[in-house]
Amino acid sequence: MAIKYVAEPFRIKMVEPIKILTREEREQKIKEAHYNLFYLKGKDCYIDLLTDSGTNAMSSYQWSGIMLGDEAYAGASSYYHLIDAAKDIFNYSYIQPVHQGRAAEKVLFPILIEKGQYAISNMFFDTTRAHVELAGGRCIDCVVEIAKNPSERAPFKGNMDVKHMEEIILEKGAKNIGVVVMTITNNSAGGQPVSMKNMREVSNICKKYNIPLDIDAARYAENAYFIKRDEAEYKDKSIKEIIREIFSYADTFTMSAKKDTIVNMGGMIGVKEDNSDIILKIKAACISYEGFYTYGGLNGRDLEAMAIGIYEGIDEDFLKYRIGQVEYLASRLDDANIGYQAPVGGHGVFVDATQMFPHIPYYEFPAQVLAIELYKEAGIRTCDIGSYMLGNDPDTKEQLRSEFEFTRFAIPRRVYTQAHFDIMADALIEIKKRAATIKRGYKIMWEPPILRHFQAHLEVIDY
Ligand code: F0G
Repeated sequence: MAIKYVAEPFRIKMVEPIKILTREEREQKIKEAHYNLFYLKGKDCYIDLLTDSGTNAMSSYQWSGIMLGDEAYAGASSYYHLIDAAKDIFNYSYIQPVHQGRAAEKVLFPILIEKGQYAISNMFFDTTRAHVELAGGRCIDCVVEIAKNPSERAPFKGNMDVKHMEEIILEKGAKNIGVVVMTITNNSAGGQPVSMKNMREVSNICKKYNIPLDIDAARYAENAYFIKRDEAEYKDKSIKEIIREIFSYADTFTMSAKKDTIVNMGGMIGVKEDNSDIILKIKAACISYEGFYTYGGLNGRDLEAMAIGIYEGIDEDFLKYRIGQVEYLASRLDDANIGYQAPVGGHGVFVDATQMFPHIPYYEFPAQVLAIELYKEAGIRTCDIGSYMLGNDPDTKEQLRSEFEFTRFAIPRRVYTQAHFDIMADALIEIKKRAATIKRGYKIMWEPPILRHFQAHLEVIDY
């Protein structure tokens, strides 16, 4: 039975009209887009779930903050508002604003990773993986085995497999590991959280071998909510206390603020200890690539909106509603026997496309097939988090096989209502009915060498 939808802890003051195209129009649009959903125009998508990144609705407080933004090149008051808020929440010595998450990676990773070194993560997200590779490093994913079975329900499926992580360190040699990255929540594994216990264990291993520990902090507030909900000893702690403890176990963080900080653009780097060497290097790289270190590629008004959004994003009523939306959609899929990474994580539902299309092999991209069908069916734009996104091995150029073939319904914050969620479920149910008639997947006709899924051209395989 579908669970009850958690009502919005806000009312709507401004709306953005959306239109739905006809099925024929959508079929034409997706063909013209080379069957790559990144080429579709936003206006041609009825419900846009491509990402929860930068697609959030800001509050009236944030919009008011925009008007107060201080645009001074150096030392703007909006910069100090952000620094005070971020230090209050994370308890780190140094906070560097940057324009988004990948800018944080671009600045920090070359400082931590030397050419030929490895980086280990519970799972790298696509841009994070790309920046390790651009810094000359190689990525090793080390998520717990249970994450690889979407239908097996367990808490904290985003965890690092600590035993395997230590084996990798011993095999490769500690000096050859540049950094360990804990992605919270673990996006590629389905927005699955990491437990505090796991964070602590990973931190202890990193200390034992003297390896820096970085948090990829895009969805840290959602992760803290799951710790409060599912890790008994944290049930009476505040979200802020939990966040402070999570971050106390790492040395640095790289953050896309376009997610849990509920803004449209922004990011941060944090350094826990007052370590002047690394901070000087961050400032120098930032000045070259992002802009002076008191604005880091952002407008003063963006810094102001972040300083406000950072508190709204950790509000417990907000988090309860947000996770509740995703749980509602998942419960409708349960009723229809549609598989997904269960239990649902934070920022979306990751539908198991191999269950929907067991006859389509990974190299014909079943999760991309489902994403295309969803657009044709109801104008819903989702994305592939599977072999199509993973791409080719950087050394052999062979197509890699992903652990999962997920079609991700990423939910923008404070944007869609229960009726939209019902359309999402109904569309999936319709596609499931005709899934066996979709016999083949797609082939790539053209692809760029890195982060290919954003730009590749695909074509239906004839049969
Ligand atoms: N790390 C994680 C875990 C992410 O999910 C993302 C972005 C980034 C880093 C990079 O941040 O986009 O601000 O440069 N994820 C988006 C997504 C794009 O759709 O999941 P960015």
